[in-house]
Amino acid sequence: MIAPVLQHYRNLFAQALSQALPAPLAEVEKLLKPAEEVHGDFTLPMFSWAKHAKKNPAQLAAQIAPLLHIEGLQVHAQGPYVNARLLPMPFAAEVLRATRLEGAAYGCGTSGAGKTVVIDFSSPNIAKPIAFHHIRSTVIGNALANLHRAQGWNVVGINYLGDWGKQFGLVAAGFALFGDETQKHNMRHLVDVYVKANAKAEKEPAFDEKARAFFARMEAGEAAALALWREFREASLVDFRALYARLGIHFEAYEGESFYQGKMEGVIEDISHSLGTCTSQGALIVNLPYADGEPPILLKKNDGSTLYATRDLAAAVDRFERFAFDKSLYVVAADQALHFRQVFSVLEKMGKPWATRLAHVAFGRVHGMSTRKGQLHLLSEVLDEAQARALEKVRDNMAQGKIHSEAPEALAEQIGLGAIVFGDLKNRRSTDYVFDWEEVLSFEGHTGVYVQYAYARASAILKKAVNPSGCPPNQPSPSGHPSPPSLEGPYPLEDACAEELRLPEEQSLLRWVAKLPELVQEAVEQNEPSFIARWLLDGAAAFSRWYTLGNQDRSKRVLVEDNPRLRCARLALVEAVRTALGAGLRLLGIAAPQNM
Ligand code: ARG
Repeated sequence: MIAPVLQHYRNLFAQALSQALPAPLAEVEKLLKPAEEVHGDFTLPMFSWAKHAKKNPAQLAAQIAPLLHIEGLQVHAQGPYVNARLLPMPFAAEVLRATRLEGAAYGCGTSGAGKTVVIDFSSPNIAKPIAFHHIRSTVIGNALANLHRAQGWNVVGINYLGDWGKQFGLVAAGFALFGDETQKHNMRHLVDVYVKANAKAEKEPAFDEKARAFFARMEAGEAAALALWREFREASLVDFRALYARLGIHFEAYEGESFYQGKMEGVIEDISHSLGTCTSQGALIVNLPYADGEPPILLKKNDGSTLYATRDLAAAVDRFERFAFDKSLYVVAADQALHFRQVFSVLEKMGKPWATRLAHVAFGRVHGMSTRKGQLHLLSEVLDEAQARALEKVRDNMAQGKIHSEAPEALAEQIGLGAIVFGDLKNRRSTDYVFDWEEVLSFEGHTGVYVQYAYARASAILKKAVNPSGCPPNQPSPSGHPSPPSLEGPYPLEDACAEELRLPEEQSLLRWVAKLPELVQEAVEQNEPSFIARWLLDGAAAFSRWYTLGNQDRSKRVLVEDNPRLRCARLALVEAVRTALGAGLRLLGIAAPQNM
């Protein structure tokens, strides 16, 4: 792997500054920032050193700047700052080379090599309607898993299914009344039964008691109750697995709450020895000084059954024992912040040194997500609806001649799923957002399809250049991602060719491409896939600005006619942009269609 280009220059600049000032490298690195475009690429404020040297910061900057001679960078003082701007060369050549060499792996790094992260995500509740937070957890968690993998982490993705609890009692009791024996393995039907049973239980305490009693039989390990539970669970899992396959999501393990049945005594005992437990109104609670109004941490209810917190405590201990993780992330709605704060703090107070490695990756709410049929029950319904709506858009756009597709239905699936995923990930995860079908499926807005369209345009330009006769292109792989371009590409990458890229639009596109490796690292550090999504939008916009310049001015066409060197350079830039867009989409878990 080649050192990321931007980081390479940043390091050179930091080293030169640290020698010239002189100052410890770490100090310089901490203060060295990306510059605003008018000022260059990197900037270092002189204030803290000027104070030490009892100088005016502008004076110090003016004194330091001329001392710095770094190949490929132009250094200048501006007020109290020392700024550096990348020279067009060899920067351009290096970016083009890096994307071509790394291909589909462009943007990857090694900051996680040798480390393990456990990511608890998606974690829907079996036999219960899906909720907005399962969708968010699924797409955010998957993106985080991809991002960590791209940084060399060993990722253990765990689907901590909500597969234990009273809801099975409700489905079982409800099935006797509303169930259809022939539909026993149909998840949609089970969810309907659950919804009806739940409503009934709210009105009729006797029915509620039946459900509770069924769950108590499960907890007591009664074979018949467990057999029925297993059937319901299996039916849901078949459905979930199909859904994850559709989204291209993979889990290292499906270990739900039921996995910890019978494995909780150990942790309860451990707590009673370290922190102590006590009983409150018949329930077993962790003996802690609770803040005013803070609910106590329940380990067992008065009927002896365990709780969500008990299971999460047992799961955390078990995961550390098995995976010795360096980080363990819980991608769960912000609504559960108190739960995780309490679980983490119990583990810390129990003296688990690894408790500080646990993090709740919280996210906000989605409002307004529903389907034409009304209220949303299954995640697959949202995906079906996305596909159907995307198909309408695809057909419209085809009729208007804006896009072309041999396989509109497959394209609509890629666009529809991309719309949902991107519509979520473009938001900072902590913010709430309002879901709007028109908005997420717009070809012009801040959407997945806008980025996919840019990717397809880049592919089309390359295809046209290589294959002006219009022969069929190479088939894309099933994931929609092409294999990395071969080194013997049709447009050679000699440095002299990269030198031709002199338009400001070309310079900024190169900078955009170069940003990905650093951004992936930042996204991992902050568990924030939106960094990649926003970057994709910037790139798609910059790319379309650039490749449409030729509509006004023939000399700015990508496939410029009378200058083979320039044409070759521009094609190489298209290829780099395409590689970068493809890499970004893949990290977010979104397909990159070659044709549309
Ligand atoms: N099944 C839970 C819910 O739907 C989410 C589980 C999150 N993970 C965890 N370890 N608690 O609310």
